[in-house]
Amino acid sequence: MFDISLRNAGLAYGDNQIFRNLNLTLEGGRWTCLLGGSGVGKTTLLRMIAGLTSGRSIRTQGEVVCGDGLPLQGRIAWMSQEDSLLPWADVMDNVTVGHRLRSRSWFRKKKLDTEVKEQALTVLEQVGIVDKACELPQNLSGGQRQRVALARTLMEDRPVVLMDEPFAAVDAITRLDLQDLSCQLLTDRTVLLITHDPLEALRLGHHVYHLRGKPAELTDAIIPPGQTPRSLDNEKLMMLQGKLLDRLRHSEHDEGSRVHKGDIQ
Ligand SMILES: Nc1ncnc2c1ncn2[C@@H]1O[C@H](COP(=O)(O)OP(=O)(O)O)[C@@H](O)[C@H]1O
Ligand SMILES: [Mg+2]
Repeated sequence: MFDISLRNAGLAYGDNQIFRNLNLTLEGGRWTCLLGGSGVGKTTLLRMIAGLTSGRSIRTQGEVVCGDGLPLQGRIAWMSQEDSLLPWADVMDNVTVGHRLRSRSWFRKKKLDTEVKEQALTVLEQVGIVDKACELPQNLSGGQRQRVALARTLMEDRPVVLMDEPFAAVDAITRLDLQDLSCQLLTDRTVLLITHDPLEALRLGHHVYHLRGKPAELTDAIIPPGQTPRSLDNEKLMMLQGKLLDRLRHSEHDEGSRVHKGDIQ
């Protein structure tokens, strides 16, 4: 699996410089987690990696480079906090929406190919909601809707997955379940997960970064010990969580203060 490197990346919305000279490598087949306060530029960074930052007042610098020398376009799946399910389509139709949009045969026949349907059922089985395949999103709980969103991401079957606070809107227990499930189903993919939740980052991340300041800078990586998803009774994890919470609190309070690097290990 290839690495993805962001080199000397900068982005400004008009006069609002979000970050500059930012360097980050997403290790191939590993999870990188990014923490940071609201408005610091996390989604912007994700959009820059995905190549979604064109606009008249947007200025970008730097480049995104894949270790295998090929373009990143077409190799990314995206999962966001809003499940973005189509309210009029049932679960099966939501999970296969990417396929249907790309498929000429679907437009002709208005019927899913058997193998696509089977693949969708397998994925729905994996995320534990195959019995909801014919339900509309309005009849599902928040956790079930995020499972559908995860299934749709898995259906895309891309090597790189960018996740923007995907579990922020669900309750704490459902969040733990979804973390475990995603970790299991997205093994071997290159994942960049943005989260507000230090525990989530520490359970799932092989590398954990904190984006802070204005323009925003990245702290040195924290490399939590042990295999993911890390268990809640891991003492070192709990200690790191305390330190990270403290640091997140301070950086939200000291807006504009200097970034201290490498103070957690
Ligand atoms: N399309 C845009 N045009 C202008 N400003 C934007 C745009 N998108 C985001 N911003 C601003 O950039 C900053 C960072 O936004 P964002 O990346 O969404 O932050 P985060 O995801 O960390 O909460 C915020 O101040 C936000 O208002
Ligand atoms: Mg955001």
